[in-house]
Amino acid sequence: MTTQLVDRWGIHPGHLWLRGQRPEHPVQFDEEQKVWNVYGYAEALRILGEPKTFSSNTARLFPVTLDESLGEGDMSQMDPPDHRKIRNLVSQAFTPKLVAGLEPRIEEITRELVDAVSDQDSMELVADVAYPLPVIVIAEMLGVPSSDRHMFKGWADKIIESLSGFAFLNDGEEGENNINDAMAHIRPLLEYLREHANERRKRPRQDLLTHLTQAEVDGERLTDNEVVNIANILLITGHITTTMLLGNTMLCLDGHPEEAARVRADRSLVPTTIEEALRLLSPSAGISRATSTDVELAGQLIPKDQLLLLWLGAANRDGNQFTNPDTFDPARDPNPHFGFGRGIHFCIGAPLARMEGRIALNLLFDRFPTMRTDPDNPPTFFPTPDMIGVNTLPLVMR
Ligand code: HEM
Repeated sequence: MTTQLVDRWGIHPGHLWLRGQRPEHPVQFDEEQKVWNVYGYAEALRILGEPKTFSSNTARLFPVTLDESLGEGDMSQMDPPDHRKIRNLVSQAFTPKLVAGLEPRIEEITRELVDAVSDQDSMELVADVAYPLPVIVIAEMLGVPSSDRHMFKGWADKIIESLSGFAFLNDGEEGENNINDAMAHIRPLLEYLREHANERRKRPRQDLLTHLTQAEVDGERLTDNEVVNIANILLITGHITTTMLLGNTMLCLDGHPEEAARVRADRSLVPTTIEEALRLLSPSAGISRATSTDVELAGQLIPKDQLLLLWLGAANRDGNQFTNPDTFDPARDPNPHFGFGRGIHFCIGAPLARMEGRIALNLLFDRFPTMRTDPDNPPTFFPTPDMIGVNTLPLVMR
């Protein structure tokens, strides 16, 4: 049972659904936060399938006002028909063929990272492999120097902290401070990307940033802000969650030695293991939507303009959908989890994240037959409630 693993490491003490307990009702209103928490699988499925009723443009409901230029090009906040235009454009860079073509380079990067720690008795999985791997890959795809990745991490960690789903919900001074904090960290990253985008306009290359600066939507070029915001979202979402996926998969295996031995012996189970880790320890554990009309959900009447927090992590453990929902079963198939969302906003980077996970896990298995968590040095986790993921994961290899 993953509940033992969750308790052992003290992952999000408040998330009872991580501990095998179901909320009383699949949809519950939180009087204090003034948000509707959605825990049920069927309800999440409906919400993700009805973007007209359940809008992704949630920023309009936050009690504090965001800098509007930040929303330009942010497909995760867009609804049809605008969403489709940006999504189509970016999808061109993530076609299965293009992503498959990255495999040799991803293998090479992974090998270099693992080689660097091969002679050591211990490593910190996040700093040594799980962070640099996806960030180097997405930086190379975009065309920004991957050697700048330490700067990205500094910015990204702070942005996540201050932009976590709940930070926006705080009215008044606290909310204002959270927003100001976030802006202070986003601005240098946006400026950094703007400089690189300007450079690509002058000297185009074969990279995603050049593609964005040259692309046309309905006969028009993207604005500077759109290019920069799209690049920003890809850079940040393109690595933070994948880092968590690698770490969380390792934790699931470490907590279930018999299952780990089974996967080591039968590598055809690596892809389903990754899916199962995504289900049980979902990096994007909570996402948000806003009601565009009055709507009835699970017998409750939700008025227009309400904020919904969709607990994908809880839906992924709904016993009405999954048998033995808290059990780690690396061979689970089918496994229709919401780890990458569903519907029109389904994660654009899913094929890439899956490939990075598969390559990294296989290589780590090959190199370190006795790899396990360090009992004297427990993992740490991102504190934001809407994300479940390791921040540091010390491992001993000998
Ligand atoms: C394990 C790793 C990842 C996880 C768990 C994850 C999770 C998700 C989820 C749950 C959504 C849906 C959000 C919603 O419906 O509101 C999403 C959307 C998105 N993801 Fe990922 N993601 C991962 C990796 C990536 C990577 C590698 C990239 C890019 C290189 C990426 C880029 C995006 C983008 C751009 C969207 C917005 C799509 C849209 O709004 O149409 N993600 N992701």
